[in-house]
Amino acid sequence: MSLYRNTVWFLNGIQQYTRKGYEEACKSFEPKDLEVSAVGRHFMITGANSGIGRATAMVVAKKGGTVHMVCRNKGRAEEARAAIVNESGNTEVFIHIVDLSQTHKVSQFAENFKKQFSSLNVLINNAGCMLHKRELNAEGLEKNFATNIMGVYILTQTLIPLLQMSRDPRVITVSSGGMLVQKLRFDDLQSEKGSFDGLMVYAQNKRQQVVLTEQWAKANPLIHFSVMHPGWVDTPAVSSSMPEFHHMMGERLRTVEQGADTVVWLALSRVVSRMCSGQFFQDRQPVPTHLPLAWTHSSADEMQTFMNRLETIARAVQSLPHSNPDQE
Ligand SMILES: NC(=O)c1ccc[n+]([C@@H]2O[C@H](COP(=O)([O-])OP(=O)(O)OC[C@H]3O[C@@H](n4cnc5c(N)ncnc54)[C@H](OP(=O)(O)O)[C@@H]3O)[C@@H](O)[C@H]2O)c1
Repeated sequence: MSLYRNTVWFLNGIQQYTRKGYEEACKSFEPKDLEVSAVGRHFMITGANSGIGRATAMVVAKKGGTVHMVCRNKGRAEEARAAIVNESGNTEVFIHIVDLSQTHKVSQFAENFKKQFSSLNVLINNAGCMLHKRELNAEGLEKNFATNIMGVYILTQTLIPLLQMSRDPRVITVSSGGMLVQKLRFDDLQSEKGSFDGLMVYAQNKRQQVVLTEQWAKANPLIHFSVMHPGWVDTPAVSSSMPEFHHMMGERLRTVEQGADTVVWLALSRVVSRMCSGQFFQDRQPVPTHLPLAWTHSSADEMQTFMNRLETIARAVQSLPHSNPDQE
C-alpha cells in the first residue's frame, strides 16, 4: 500500500507541481492582485529563515509589512533577517527564537507575544519537518507531530484572540499535496502503531493541517483561514529529507519564489478576503482536498474527535510546571 500511495503522490505531483506547472498556471494570474501595500500590517511567519518562508518574508518586507520571523536557530535567523532588511530597506523585521517541536515553549511564546503586541494581521504556519526516525520531544510527543501539528495548533489557538482584534485577519498554513494520499487518522497521533514511515507521517500531518484549517474556519468566522500546497520546491527540506527525489527532479523543482507565490497571494491579496474561508489552494486557486473516488474522506464526528484530542494534548502540555521562556 505504501508503494502504491507513494506512486500516486509522485505521479500527481510530477504533472502540476513542477516549475513548468507553475509557469503554465501563472499565465492566468492577475498581476493587480499583488499591487497592494502591507504598511501597518503585522505578519508572523514560522520558518522564515529558509526556503518558502524566507521568500515570503522578503516579499512582505518589500511591501512594507512588519515581519515577525519565528525561527529555531539564532544564527540562521540573523543571517536571513540581515538579507531581508538589506534587500527590502524595511527594518521592521523581528526575530523570535522558538523551536516549534518544543510544545510547552511554543505555548509560552504565543502567550508572551499576545501580551507584548497589540496587533497580528496574518499568521503564516510555514515551518515543517519530515523526520525519518521516531523521536520524542520533552513532553513525550512524536517530533513530526509536535512540530507540524501541535506547534501549529497551539500557536494558532493562542493567537486567535489577537488576530480577531486585528484588521482583515488571516491564517495560512503551508501543507502539501502529499496529504492527498492520507485519510485523517486520529487514533495514532504519536505514530506508535506499526512500522514508522517518516514520509507517510509527514503526509498524515499535512492532511491533519487541512482538517485543522477547515475546522478553524467553521469555529472562527472573523478570521480568514487557508491552507495550501506550494508545489515541489528546491529547498533544504527537500534536499535533506528526500535526497533521491531532489536529485531526480533537479531543474524541474520550483524556485522558492514560485513556491512562495500562493502564500504571498493568500497573505496580501484583497480578493482572498472575499473567498470562502477554510479552503485548500494551489497556484492561487482553491482545489479539492481529495482525489477523485478517494477513500480519504472523514466524517464530521471523526474530525471533531481529532480536534478534541489536540485540545486535550494542548491542555496537558500547558498545565506542565512553568519555566522561564528563553525566547525574546
Ligand atoms: N519544498 C517543497 O517542495 C514543499 C512541498 C510541500 C510542502 N512544503 C512545506 O513547505 C514548508 C516550508 O518548507 P521549505 O520547503 O521551505 O523548507 P526549508 O527551506 O527547509 O524551510 C523549513 C523551515 O522550517 C523551519 N523549521 C523546521 N523545524 C522547525 C522547528 N522545530 N522549529 C522552528 N522552525 C523549524 C526550518 O528551520 P531551520 O532552517 O532551522 O531548519 C526552516 O526555516 C514546510 O511546511 C514544508 O512541509 C514544502
